[in-house]
Amino acid sequence: MTATHERIVLTYGTFDLFHPGHVQLLKRARDLGSRLVVGLSTDEFNAKKGKQSVMRYEDRKTVLESCRYVDEIFAEEDWSQKLNDARRLGADVFVMGDDWTGKFDFMQEACNVVYLARTEGVSTTEIKASVQGLNRHPVAQAAMQLI
Ligand code: CTP
Repeated sequence: MTATHERIVLTYGTFDLFHPGHVQLLKRARDLGSRLVVGLSTDEFNAKKGKQSVMRYEDRKTVLESCRYVDEIFAEEDWSQKLNDARRLGADVFVMGDDWTGKFDFMQEACNVVYLARTEGVSTTEIKASVQGLNRHPVAQAAMQLI
């Protein structure tokens, strides 16, 4: 019997306020192999990056675990861990959205590197801005006075 080799795809992100752009990225990443492993940025790592998520790590992980394209999640705690992760996991492909093009070419030391086109018109940043806009709406302001 021939052993079947799993083709491991590795990606990273914060995946806050999980949205269709995340789904598309994860689906296309998973299509590049047979197992998708996600390094999920911890709240502490995000703080180092000057980024604050609305959802804390455990909640983002719970949501991500429910995505059918995700097979495994581990904590991303530092910028410098990616090469070691890829080697430890035996990753075949490293995937990121094309907002990161060129930034992770050093991962070619361990595996193939693919930058996928981002989904237009949606991002966590835009969702946060929309919610803030809604909160500034007079009706929302009036409702807040009643609380
Ligand atoms: N991504 C994507 N298309 C989008 C948004 C994100 O393909 N519209 C990809 C990113 O390129 C990255 C992954 O999804 O590879 C996780 O991105 P993340 O930074 O968590 O999400 P963003 O919506 O980009 O968050 P932010 O606005 O805070 O940068």
